[in-house]
Amino acid sequence: MSTGPDADSSHGRVATPLNREVPVASPGEFGPLQLGDGRVSERGQLRVWPPVILAPMAGVTNLAFRSLCREYGAGLYVSEMITARGYLMGNRLTALLASSAPDEKPRSVQVYGADPVDLGEMVRSLVDEGVDHLDINMVCPVPKVTRAGGGSAIPCKPKLLARLVRAMVQNAGDVPVTVKIRKGIHDELLTFEQAGLAAAAEGASAVGLHARTAAQLYSGEADWDAIGRLVEVLDVPVLGNGDIWESFDALRMMRRTGCAGVIVGRGCLGRPWLFGELADVFDGREPGVPPDFGQVVEIMMGHGQRLVELFGETVGVRQMRKWTAWYTKGFRGSARVRGRLMRIESLEDIRTAVAELDHSEPFPVTALRAMRAKGSKVQTVKLPEGYLKELDDDTPPKGPRTLDEIEAWEKALNGG
Ligand SMILES: Cc1cc2nc3c(=O)[nH]c(=O)nc-3n(C[C@H](O)[C@H](O)[C@H](O)COP(=O)(O)O)c2cc1C
Repeated sequence: MSTGPDADSSHGRVATPLNREVPVASPGEFGPLQLGDGRVSERGQLRVWPPVILAPMAGVTNLAFRSLCREYGAGLYVSEMITARGYLMGNRLTALLASSAPDEKPRSVQVYGADPVDLGEMVRSLVDEGVDHLDINMVCPVPKVTRAGGGSAIPCKPKLLARLVRAMVQNAGDVPVTVKIRKGIHDELLTFEQAGLAAAAEGASAVGLHARTAAQLYSGEADWDAIGRLVEVLDVPVLGNGDIWESFDALRMMRRTGCAGVIVGRGCLGRPWLFGELADVFDGREPGVPPDFGQVVEIMMGHGQRLVELFGETVGVRQMRKWTAWYTKGFRGSARVRGRLMRIESLEDIRTAVAELDHSEPFPVTALRAMRAKGSKVQTVKLPEGYLKELDDDTPPKGPRTLDEIEAWEKALNGG
């Protein structure tokens, strides 16, 4: 057991004070998340246990990271968002980001698009490829996207949202389709109830709620009460999202809100073993001790290897730079070696860069809730001129068409 200064020795649990007394799940307390009713075939009924979902994260939840997380636990591991236009035009990077492996089961893909024809075509093709779950991104707060009426602007217009979900559901056969939304644009323009109802009415199997507004971006505390409110309003499962940093947060969120499953975002960045801890607490076991620094280094190297296999040496190593900051966060002396880590040219450079750090240091409790990506920024959400005067409108916003436009969008989308 960890003997670090911050560890709670009275319980032997490595947790922050918020979670030191939280009991693990009792037998039968939670059930598997059920997505789809399987009326047509078995494929259409997904049972997810534990009821845990890796959040779609651009630049993060590619096959390399999904496969690593999956080795620790179980649940549903969603791809980063795949733009419909990029996918349909055969963009090479989009195809790589959408790629999977034969043993990735269930396979889950998040799509991004605001055109019902594109979405329908993409969904048909993904279903033919064998995808088991589809999610649509209606959370993206990036100005380039919302200014055109896409992403988190869509739920303002329930008829447009309905049209897009309908296009997906109608083309998905009985593969479950879920919708990911935010609370709304800002505190005076909350849309999650109407959006959730519209999605459910069109056959969405569940609604995921990132319990922050688009104006909030990723700052402040997620509003778990909004998740509870959506549970009251909808008769399909609600997936709660926001601030699952420790495994026990998931139990607290489900107990407090009654949601059917949790979506884990930044908490797992540089901490893929969080999915093992989540499986433990949902199965009624105390989670094991998190890895010490030496073990973290080995996990990080293994992750780097997977990225290199997926993207090739140059891109894989470049992608690994941000991950090294996340894996080493909070360990003594890590700030000192960060500059070197940001300049690595090979995976072996990682070992050299961290050689001087104490490899026996236990995982620091202070790092459990440390912000690893995004920050405390807030924004004024950009919407198209007159957008809020036509809320009954269901006209799809204009999206990117040419390959250049698509690439510019994909860059901007990075981080919805
Ligand atoms: C680096 C990064 C990329 C993200 N990309 C996406 C995305 O592609 N699609 C999406 O629906 N949400 C995306 N998100 C939002 C997360 O899925 C999640 O909703 C958000 O981080 C809140 O959960 P958390 O508080 O557990 O981090 C992204 C978040 C981060 C940090």
